[in-house]
Parts: sequence; C-alpha cells; structure tokens
Amino acid sequence: METSITLLDAAARRAQEYLRRSTTRTVAPHTADIDALRELEEPFPELPSLPSEVLAFVDRVGSPATVATTGGRYYGFVNGGVLPAALATSWLVSAWDQNISLRVMSPAGAAFEDVALDWVIDVLGLPRAAGGALVTGATMANFCGLAAARHALLRRAGWQVEDEGLFGAPPLRVVVGDEVHISLLKALALLGLGRRRVERVPVDRQGRMRGDALPDLDDRTIVCVQAGNVNSGAFDPAREICQRAHERGAWVHVDGAFGLWAAASPRLRHHVDGFGDADSWATDGHKWPNVGYDCGIAVVRDPEALRGAMSMASAYFAPGGLREPSQYSPEMSRRARGVELWAALRSLGRQGLAALIERTAEHAGRFATGLRDRGWEILNDVVINQVLVSFGTPEVTRSTVAKIQEDGVLWCGATEWQGRTAMRISVSSWATTEEDVRVSLDAIDRAARQCQRPQAIG
Ligand SMILES: Cc1ncc(COP(=O)(O)O)c(C=O)c1O
Repeated sequence: METSITLLDAAARRAQEYLRRSTTRTVAPHTADIDALRELEEPFPELPSLPSEVLAFVDRVGSPATVATTGGRYYGFVNGGVLPAALATSWLVSAWDQNISLRVMSPAGAAFEDVALDWVIDVLGLPRAAGGALVTGATMANFCGLAAARHALLRRAGWQVEDEGLFGAPPLRVVVGDEVHISLLKALALLGLGRRRVERVPVDRQGRMRGDALPDLDDRTIVCVQAGNVNSGAFDPAREICQRAHERGAWVHVDGAFGLWAAASPRLRHHVDGFGDADSWATDGHKWPNVGYDCGIAVVRDPEALRGAMSMASAYFAPGGLREPSQYSPEMSRRARGVELWAALRSLGRQGLAALIERTAEHAGRFATGLRDRGWEILNDVVINQVLVSFGTPEVTRSTVAKIQEDGVLWCGATEWQGRTAMRISVSSWATTEEDVRVSLDAIDRAARQCQRPQAIG
C-alpha cells in the first residue's frame, strides 16, 4: 500500500534530482518540453491512479517545463530563489497540512507567524506596535494596507465602509507616483477605489515621485509611495512625503515589495530613510529574502485599522483573545506560510539577511560595470539589485533579450523605461555567485554582439 510516508521518499529523491539538474540545464525550458505539456490535456480519468504514478507523471512532464529559478542565473521579474531552510521547512509544513485561520486550528502555525511578523517589523525598522498579515504576495499586501487605510479614513469621516460599502460614502482621494506598480492599481480596483481615479504625481529620471509636485493633501487622501521601483530600484522621497501627508491628516501607504528589504543592510539602509514614518507597508518574503512562493507581508501601524477591515465572526468561528490570523487577512482558510518565513529568517539571522541583500546588490553593480565596460548603455542609477541595459535600438534590444532567453545560460526579460526599450536584470537569488555573473556577462555580450549584426546569425 502506498502511503504519504512511503511516497515522500520518492518525492524527496525526485526533488533532489530536480535541484541538481537545475544548475546545469538551460534556465528557460526547451520548446519541446513545453510542447510536451500537451500530455496533460486528457479528459478527467474515470479510474484512480497510484499516487507514485501521479508523482512520476508530474516529474516527467512538469519538471522539464519549469523555469530554473532555483539556480543562480535567473534574473527575471523580481523572483527570488528559495533558501534551503525555507524549502525543507515547506515540505514539513505541507505534511502538517495546517489551516491557520484560527489559533485553535494551528497553535504552531499561529505562533510561528506571530514571531515571523515581529522579526520582519524589527528588521525593516517599522514601528514596534505595528501589526500585520501574511498573504500571497505584495499585490494582496497592498490590498491589505489600502483596505486598512480605507477603513481608517472613512471611519474618521463617520462611515463604516465594511458595513455600508462605498455607495454614498464620503469620497476618498488616492495619490500615486506616475511609476506606480500595476499591482497597487489592481488593489485599488478591488477595493472600489478605482485604477483611473488616482491622482498621478510626475516622477524624476529614476522614477522617483517628485515631492515638489505633490497635490494639496487632506484627511481623506491615501498617498502611495514606493520603496524600490520594479525597473530602476529607485526609492520615493518618503520622509518629505510622509511629513507633508501627516500635516494634513492623510494616510501614507508604502509599496515596498522588494526595496523595503534594503533596511536589513547597514550599507543600503539609507535608501529607506523616512519609509518607517508611513502608516502601512506591503512587501514580499518571496522576492529579496528568498522565502519560497508564496509569501507576501502586510504591516499596518495601527493594527486595529487592519482588523477593522478584515475581521469576521460567527457562532462556530469565534476568535479567541489572542491575535487570530484570519482577523487580519482577506482569507479565512490559509496555509501556514509563516513557518517558512520564520525558517528563512532564522537560518539567515540578521547578519545573513544583510549579507544576502548586499551580495545581490553587489552582483547588480558588477553587471552594470561589466556591461558598461563592454560598451553597453546602463539606463538607471544602480542603487540596489536592479539594472536596466540597452543594446541599441528597441529592435536590437528586444532581439538580444530573445536570443539570451533562447540560449538559456541565463534569463532576463524586457521592459520599457522612460521611452527606451531595455533589458531588466534583477539579482534576487541567494544562489547567484560571482561566477554566475561572469558567465552571464559573457553570454549577454555574445548575444548582444550577434544581434548587432543580424546577417551573422544563423
Ligand atoms: C514594486 C512592486 N510592487 C508589487 C509587486 C507585486 O508583487 P507580487 O507579485 O508578490 O504580488 C511587485 C512585483 O514585482 C513589485 O515589484
């Protein structure tokens, strides 16, 4: 008889083999492997299958068609790798199969989450009395922060938005920088605050909101600032904005999906100066700190504002006296992702986290210097882990990115930056080494040179 116990050995062997291969295979999967996913397109089977056969199928058909983000040469989007402690812990946590909705359902899950949140608040330099929630990612963390803002500003205006909805409510204003991340706009849309109703503030050449261009603020306004632009890595001038906003009773929300983690490094901490003055913050464990997917973190200065936005109760679902996870997050049932966050932070310690942040930022600096030395144009000030590079015309840059992805030595994506087409390099994985950077630089340079002379290709 196959049981979970016998099957986990097979899963471990397959996962170990996967990780071993992921350092030598191409970063992007081969087209043939993606095409082979068509094997999935079968009707729902009538008969059961052996669990070991199911696992073998997932490995055979699925593993080759993954993107090798766990190796050291994936620089796409802002995707972190997964630290060994976080990965191994997630296996154990999967075996626990805890629902962390209420403390009574998972005392362990709730306790790990409490401590993990405390540590995040500490290392990010946020107010000690703040509270928070663990969610799927920064999109939902933005949602939580903005929901708390909506709750607090409308309650102050005498309106209980969770009961009455937004119809007939006193209007709220939302101010964002022109470089606002799409996920924040999505969160505003979900909250009924509208993507297009926002007041956009012009930005400078690095994508930073211009403090001198802020509109007049008032106590029904949410100002959204950014710690770490998804392209350039730049930081908005938070201290100045928070001061102006708070003089007028406005709420400041920070989208710090990855950039907030600069606070963990004594060398990079100056970038987050003033961000701790805000009222709510959104960040990710699965980006720069390399907790596995998925792990977003919302923090709110006044935990009661978050609880007011998220709480629910019924006779069968009665919150106890201590902090109940589901009273602070959008979901009721939820996995115990706080254990993995805790494990990642515990394994790194304060110094290890600082080293991870600094090492990846140094690698980004190496990319910028190496590419510049080879004659390519760097479009941003490389302040943390993000590099934007142009290889010439938009067409040449785009074909270079395509060639790099196809060659498979590394993976980077393309973007548009202030009217220019660029390749984005985001160094977000603990696994990236100096050797990875060296090998990647050569591969990028080779591809870019081939794309300058299209006739030389194939
Ligand atoms: C600045 C910023 N905000 C929000 C997000 C969304 O994060 P998630 O994909 O974890 O929801 C990202 C993702 O890259 C980001 O860079």
